[in-house]
Amino acid sequence: MLNLVIADAEVETVPAEIADHRVIRWHARQRGRRPTEIILNSGLHHAAMRRLPDGDRRGRPDIAHMCLLLALDAPLNREGLLRVYVHTRQDRLITVNPSTRLPRVLNRFEGLLEQLFLAGEAPPGKPLLRLERATLKELIGRLRPRKTITFSDRGQRKLMSEIYSGVSRDDDVCVVIGGFPSGDFLSDVGSISDEQVCIDPEPLTAPTVVARAIYVYEESLGITRSRLGR
Ligand SMILES: C[S@@+](CC[C@H](N)C(=O)[O-])C[C@H]1O[C@@H](n2cnc3c(N)ncnc32)[C@H](O)[C@@H]1O
Repeated sequence: MLNLVIADAEVETVPAEIADHRVIRWHARQRGRRPTEIILNSGLHHAAMRRLPDGDRRGRPDIAHMCLLLALDAPLNREGLLRVYVHTRQDRLITVNPSTRLPRVLNRFEGLLEQLFLAGEAPPGKPLLRLERATLKELIGRLRPRKTITFSDRGQRKLMSEIYSGVSRDDDVCVVIGGFPSGDFLSDVGSISDEQVCIDPEPLTAPTVVARAIYVYEESLGITRSRLGR
């Protein structure tokens, strides 16, 4: 089983300190919500975010959205061998039901996140996403994988084909990939990782790394081969 953790993801509701900005109030009105109930989005709230600490990397639900779409669509997920979590900069943890069919359009995904941050689960009644407070360390402690591999451009350089060497189908593996556009992990990934690996000399986007981490895991277990009956 592969546990995929999108860590320190830049997913949050609008912080109170910028809730009175005219751009935020306008957007909240459009969505029929209070300013602090809408999801921070740097594409729309850029002017207001200049006041925020770390404002140049926050408000990126699109990164988590793209990672989730890729992961949930993967053959590995169809085989029931993938679990996906989104951990955010404020230590909120989103647990994603593997059967979730997420909205493909970001605007609608943000609507789902708004419900989630308000009610702790979404959609109401038949929740596919659940929200709780948990640090990255608490999550890894709960999953107790045989191996935790963090992908980082500061890690040890490795070929993708070497990443899962020695891992078998019965082993639970956890991969941690940053859900942020630039900078470094906010969480202390050193303390939760068995290995930190760098897979390219340049920083890649999180969705690119997610796609590779899942595909190479599938190949290491022979998933494609067995699905094709070969
Ligand atoms: C856009 S990057 C964040 C930029 C940041 N400088 C970094 O790589 O940590 C998003 C995530 O993709 C993964 N990533 C990006 N480039 C990588 C690389 N060359 N090797 C391994 N992982 C990488 C890391 O998990 C990273 O946190």
